Amino acid sequence: MTYDILILGGGPGGYVAAIKAAQLGYQVGLVEKNALGGVCLNEGCIPTKTLLKNAKVYRLMKHASAYGIHIDDSAVTFNWTDMLSRKNKVIKTLTDGVKGLLKKNGVTVHNGYGEVLNPTTVKVGDETLATKYLILATGASPVIPNIPGLKEGFERQFVYTYSSLLNYPNVPASLTIIGGGVIGLEFATLFSSFGTKVTVIERLDQILSAVDDDVRQAYLRLLKKEKIEVITGASVTEIQTDAVVYEHQGSSKSIQSDIVLLSVGMKPNLEAFKALNLETTKQGVVVNAHLQTNIPNVYAIGDITGKMMLAHAASAEGVTAVEHISGKDVSFSFDHVPSAIYGFPEIAWIGLTEAAAKADNIPYKTSKFPLMANGRSLAEGETDGFVKVVVHPDTGEIIGAHILASNASDLLAEVVLAIKSEATIADVANAIHLHPTVSETVMESALGAIHKHIHI
Ligand code: NAI
Repeated sequence: MTYDILILGGGPGGYVAAIKAAQLGYQVGLVEKNALGGVCLNEGCIPTKTLLKNAKVYRLMKHASAYGIHIDDSAVTFNWTDMLSRKNKVIKTLTDGVKGLLKKNGVTVHNGYGEVLNPTTVKVGDETLATKYLILATGASPVIPNIPGLKEGFERQFVYTYSSLLNYPNVPASLTIIGGGVIGLEFATLFSSFGTKVTVIERLDQILSAVDDDVRQAYLRLLKKEKIEVITGASVTEIQTDAVVYEHQGSSKSIQSDIVLLSVGMKPNLEAFKALNLETTKQGVVVNAHLQTNIPNVYAIGDITGKMMLAHAASAEGVTAVEHISGKDVSFSFDHVPSAIYGFPEIAWIGLTEAAAKADNIPYKTSKFPLMANGRSLAEGETDGFVKVVVHPDTGEIIGAHILASNASDLLAEVVLAIKSEATIADVANAIHLHPTVSETVMESALGAIHKHIHI
C-alpha cells in the first residue's frame, strides 16, 4: 500500500498532523521510535507542568498562614518519589489518549526508527513504506557543547539534561544550571520551591534574551527574593568532579553543587532524513510559508525548522502542512505564535518586545498595569507581576504583549486572539471582562494604551 501522507515523528507536530490528515480523508501512516507524544508529552511540557503543580501546592501550604490557615511547618513534607509517580501517571494518561485518538482516526502507527530513503520511501525495521507526501517532524535534542569534563560529568551522573533530570531520584540540595534560557529558569523555580539551592550560569549579559526588558528586570527581582543566584556574562570552561568552573569578569571561579543541569539550547534532529539532502541552514530545515522543503512533496514542521521550538507552533504547522497538501492556500505566520516560561511566576508574551520595536524604528507606545491594583489578584494573594502592551500610537495595532503573572500563559490567550483577528487595543479595552478576574489586568493595560487606566 502507498500512504497518501506519511509522517515521521509522533510529537505534537507529527501526531496532530496525522489526526488532521486522517480527518480530511487521507490514508495516513505515522512512524515513531519512542513513545507517542514526543518530548513534550513524555519529558518536556507535560511532566514539568505536573511537577510545577506539585511545587505550587507545596508553596501554598508553606505560606498557608498568610491565608489564616496555620500548619506546623514541620508537618508539611513532600515525597519526591510520589511526585514522580504522579508525573508518570499524567504522562501515561496523555500518551494513551494520543494512541486512542490516532486509532480512532484510522492512522496506522509504525513503532520504530524511520529512515528516509527517498522522498517517497521510508524504511522502518524490515518494512518499506511508500507515500505520496512526507511530513518530517523529528524534533530536536539538547545541544551538548564542547566543554572539557562534560562528557565524563554525564557518565558520572553529575550532569543532566532536562530529560534525565526529570527522573532524578530525589530533590538535590544544590543545583547548578548552565544556560539561563527557558528550560533553565523553569527548572530553577521548580527545584528552588523544594528548597534546592539553585545557581544559574548564563553566557550572555542577561538571562532570557527573548523576554521584554521590564519583564526580565521584575523577574530577576523575584528570583533574588527566591534566593536563586543568577550569574551572567559567565563562560563555563570545565566540569570537574563536583564543580562547574567558569570565567567571570576576567577571573576563573567555580561553584560546587550536588548536580548540574545543562540547558544551553536544542538542535534539530536531521539524521533520519539525511539521504534527502534537504536545504538547511544552521537553524534547521529551510521551509516556505506552507512548510514545504525544497522537495515539493516533503514538508518539515516543528523543531526541525529551528524557527520556534514550541509544541503549539509544531501542532499549528502540522495542520498548515496538511491543509496545504489538501489544496488549501494556507500559510503559517510566526507572528501569531505566543511563548511562555512556566514556573513561579509565569512569563508569557507574543509579538515584539519594546526594545525590538524601538530597534526596528516602529512607532509605538506602551501601557502597563500591575497585578497589585487588581482585586482578584489581591484576593488570590498573587500580586507579583503586570501586563504590558506595546501598541501602534495611531492605529492601535497590538505590536506586542508581555505578561508576568502566576497564570500569565492563560491570560495571554485573549491577546493572541486579538492579534490573530486584527482587533485593535481599543477592542480589547472595550470588551467587557468578568469581574473580579485577573483578566481585567489585560483590559486595564489596554485602557491605559487608549486613554487612561481606571483603577490606578
Ligand atoms: P534557550 O535557547 O531558551 O536558552 C539557552 C541559554 O543558554 C541561552 O540564554 C544561551 O545564551 C545560554 N548558553 C548557551 N551556551 C551557554 C554556555 N556554554 N554557558 C552558559 N550559558 C550558555 O534554550 P533551552 O532553555 O535549552 O530551551 C531549548 C528550547 O526548548 C527553546 O528553544 C525553547 O523554545 C524550547 N522550550 C520551550 C518551553 C516553553 O515553551 N515553555 C519549555 C522548554 C523548552
